[in-house]
Amino acid sequence: MGYWQPELAVGDEEIDQQHRRICVFMDDLLADAIAGHAEKRFPEAFEYLTDHFTSHFSVEEALMRKINYSGYNYHRSEHLKWFDRFVWLKANIEKHGPTPLHVRAMMEGLAFWMTYHVIGCDRLLADFVRSRESTGPT
Ligand SMILES: [Fe+2]
Ligand SMILES: [Fe+2]
Repeated sequence: MGYWQPELAVGDEEIDQQHRRICVFMDDLLADAIAGHAEKRFPEAFEYLTDHFTSHFSVEEALMRKINYSGYNYHRSEHLKWFDRFVWLKANIEKHGPTPLHVRAMMEGLAFWMTYHVIGCDRLLADFVRSRESTGPT
């Protein structure tokens, strides 16, 4: 079973596509981790993920500013919190090597972020965008 599940869809095409891309990447990373050679994806994996998070969060934050989203500060703080965590997990792998423990910590961190942030914050944002589209901007 891959990381991407239909219930993760928030209903915004661009955001869903970016989320789907990170899930596919996580599937590949997990497959390599299980096969015992996750390190073959590092450091490219970190570069990819760093770029992905940076650009993905910019897209969501620009959208929130554009529509004057009231949950902007909280949502953005969650992005920053996750990014700090990601940088810490990445630093652990760089310092200790891709040991099973550190690779698992990274995979669990990614899965946790994907599940709780996407189903929570990102879906609320998408719901707000849809309700605004159906009633018109206020
Ligand atoms: Fe988000
Ligand atoms: Fe997102």
